[in-house]
Amino acid sequence: MRIAHISDLHLSHAFNKKLTGRVYKFLKYVSQRADHLVITGDISDNAEEEDFILFREMLSRLGLLDGNKTSVVIGNHDIFGGVIKAEDILNFPQRCRETDYQQKVGLFHSYLGELQSNCVHQGTSNGYPYAKLIEDSLIIGVNSIAEYSSLRNPFASNGEISDDQLTEIQTIFKEYSKYCKTKVILVHHHFNKMRYMTGSFTERIWMNIEKQTMKLRKKKKILEIFKQNGVNLILHGHFHQMHTYTRKSIEIANAGASIRNAEGHFQYNLIAAENGSVSISQKTKLIEIKKPQLLKIIASAKNLTGKIAIA
Ligand SMILES: [Fe+2]
Repeated sequence: MRIAHISDLHLSHAFNKKLTGRVYKFLKYVSQRADHLVITGDISDNAEEEDFILFREMLSRLGLLDGNKTSVVIGNHDIFGGVIKAEDILNFPQRCRETDYQQKVGLFHSYLGELQSNCVHQGTSNGYPYAKLIEDSLIIGVNSIAEYSSLRNPFASNGEISDDQLTEIQTIFKEYSKYCKTKVILVHHHFNKMRYMTGSFTERIWMNIEKQTMKLRKKKKILEIFKQNGVNLILHGHFHQMHTYTRKSIEIANAGASIRNAEGHFQYNLIAAENGSVSISQKTKLIEIKKPQLLKIIASAKNLTGKIAIA
C-alpha cells in the first residue's frame, strides 16, 4: 500500500483564504499518488466550524470522504485553536479553560464521521484509539492531545496518551495482529527531541520555551509498548519540520511542515508499506491556485452549515 502523509494544514479561512485553495489542490495532488491519505492533526488553525466544514467539502469533492481512502487524527489546534492576533495572547488561557475538551473531540469526528465508518475498533474515549484494517496493514489512530492545565499544559500544546488508550491499543494488537503484516500508528505528537540549528539569542530562548510546551509525556513507555507489539511505522506532525528518524527499530516520519515550506511549495511523505517493511520518501510540490474553483467549494460548503449531524 502507498500512503501519502501530510499534517498541520492549519486551515484558517477567515484569515488566509489563499491557503484554503492551495490545500484543496494539494489534497487532490497527493491523493492521486497514493492508495491512502493520512493527515496527522491540526487540520484547522483555530478550531473554527467553518474550516472543518470546508475541509469536509474538499474531501467530499475529491472522493476522499471515505475511511478506506483517508484517515485523520486530531491535533491540539483542532481542540483549543491557537494564537492568531496579538490580543489572543492574553485571551488564550481563558479560552482554553472554557473549552469543553471531550465535546471538541466529538465535534471534530462528527464533521468527518465517514472516515471512521470502516473501523474494526472504535475506542471508548470519543472514538480513540481507533483501528482499521486496510490491505495488509493495521492502522491505529491515537489521540495525543493533553487536556489544558495552567501548570502542566499552559499553551495547550503538550501531548499525553491516556493509560486507558494505551490499554486499549494493546487489546487491539492482541485482537488484530493476526490479520496484518504492517502496523502503523497515527498520532499528532512527535517522539524526537526538537532540534534547532540556527537562530538569534532571542529566537533560541523562545525555541527552548516551545520545546518545554510541545512535548509528549511518557514517550519511552509508549515507544516500548509499540515496540513490543511490532509496530513498523509511526506517522505524526505537530512540530513543523519534515523529518524521518528511527526509535526502537520503528520508522517514524514527521510531516509537520506540509504547508510551511517556501511560498507555494507543499511537502508530504510518500510511504510504501508492504509485508511489514516500510520505505519513506519526502516529496515537494509547487501548488498554484485558480480562484473560481475555490469559490465553488466555499459556496457548497456554506450550504452544509448546520446540516452536518453533530454527535
Ligand atoms: Fe500541533
